[in-house]
Amino acid sequence: MPATATDPKDQPKGGQATGAAGAGQSTAKEGLQDVIAGRTAICHVFGGDKEKNYPGRLIYRGYDIDDLAQHATFEEVVHLLWHDDLPTRSQLDQVKQQLGQNRALPSEVIDLMRRFPKDATPMDVIRSVVSTLGLFDPEGAVDTTEANHNKALRLTAQMPTIVTTWHRLRQGKDPIQAKPSQSTAEAFLYMLNGEEPTDVAERTLDVALILHADHEFNASTFAARVTAATLSDMHSAVTSAVGALIGPLHGGANEGVIHMLQEIGEPEKVEPFILDKLKGRGARIMGFGHRVYRGTDPRAQYLREMSRQLGERQKDLKFWTMSRNIEEIMWREKTIHANVDFYSASTYWALGLPTDLFTPIFAVSRIAGWTAHILEQYSDNRIIRPLAEYAGPWQRSYVPIEQREQTAQEGKKS
Ligand SMILES: CC(C)(COP(=O)(O)OP(=O)(O)OC[C@H]1O[C@@H](n2cnc3c(N)ncnc32)[C@H](O)[C@@H]1OP(=O)(O)O)[C@@H](O)C(=O)NCCC(=O)NCCS
Repeated sequence: MPATATDPKDQPKGGQATGAAGAGQSTAKEGLQDVIAGRTAICHVFGGDKEKNYPGRLIYRGYDIDDLAQHATFEEVVHLLWHDDLPTRSQLDQVKQQLGQNRALPSEVIDLMRRFPKDATPMDVIRSVVSTLGLFDPEGAVDTTEANHNKALRLTAQMPTIVTTWHRLRQGKDPIQAKPSQSTAEAFLYMLNGEEPTDVAERTLDVALILHADHEFNASTFAARVTAATLSDMHSAVTSAVGALIGPLHGGANEGVIHMLQEIGEPEKVEPFILDKLKGRGARIMGFGHRVYRGTDPRAQYLREMSRQLGERQKDLKFWTMSRNIEEIMWREKTIHANVDFYSASTYWALGLPTDLFTPIFAVSRIAGWTAHILEQYSDNRIIRPLAEYAGPWQRSYVPIEQREQTAQEGKKS
């Protein structure tokens, strides 16, 4: 059929004419880069500037991550993300108490987890268990603001239990319940190992949790908001977020870093390994680069220092030294900075944590941000539904299946 003035490509869509693909000029923003996709009062990332040597900055509700990492606890940050300001003493006691009292998983869920394949990855288990918890939540079908706050609290309390329960079950061990008075970091390490963590281990993990708690419209949070914006439930929105976090370009990068360090093996092999990797087309060194930070990632310095301090205490600075060297090479070769995942890898490694729990620890922390964003989305909602730039053919006529069959047969013969 000849093209006419009423061709679909010439018709306006969503109030504005698109058809850019037809005109050969793309107006789509690949990966939504630089697109402001909504408003939030929870968190902001200042990208910084590589050329001007401006560092990146991160604020949670106006508080600088430097201040929070140095002075706050994870529970204070959880309250801050959910309730707009740092807690008073009694508010902090309350949030700690509520988290402590809501850590247990329903026995039906633990029974189900016992039947999961023993080699299921902890992230796949988190995704499945978060979804299952929606079936058992006492307010599962209730979508009032109060019920959604309660669900946010329960999911944040349960996330460390999901991870540690699975780790013990897959080893053939029984899960251990945390003590209600334990902080999230303390409870996580206690439920994992069955013994009280040292102050150093607890504070190191606590700081790591603060640093990972939120990051504006990162991929997993955005996935959560898209799901919440359909007015779907909290557990579905968090399940979407967990799925997005699994990917190696997002939360999965920290595990990739430790695998790389192990593959390199020795400090003297770092330089040839990285240079060789960078030769590959589209090569990515895990733990480097960021969509928003052009200057340094403000979270990386704390993890770098904690990794060094733990290495010094244990008289084993191999991974830290190798990581420093990789950082120097990446700056020299690509002018790219390390991101939050790079030194979290050697920090968790030095804490003796299993490698496949690195990304789950990210979830133990980021659940606070996800739920804060879901609550914010519910409070002022509009469905998230962008446009796409159409890149397919514009106009085709229906061909009867007999004719398609004949064309296919003729194609095979020729
Ligand atoms: C985070 C990430 C997905 C951001 O992707 P993005 O914003 O689409 O950035 P791009 O892929 O367009 O990269 C821009 C440039 O930096 C380079 N680059 C970015 N990250 C790189 C990395 N980790 N290793 C090597 N080069 C990298 C790209 O090659 C590209 O260079 P070019 O313009 O010469 O081709 C990307 O940096 C990455 O894959 N990093 C590794 C995974 C990771 O650590 N993820 C955790 C993020 S917190």
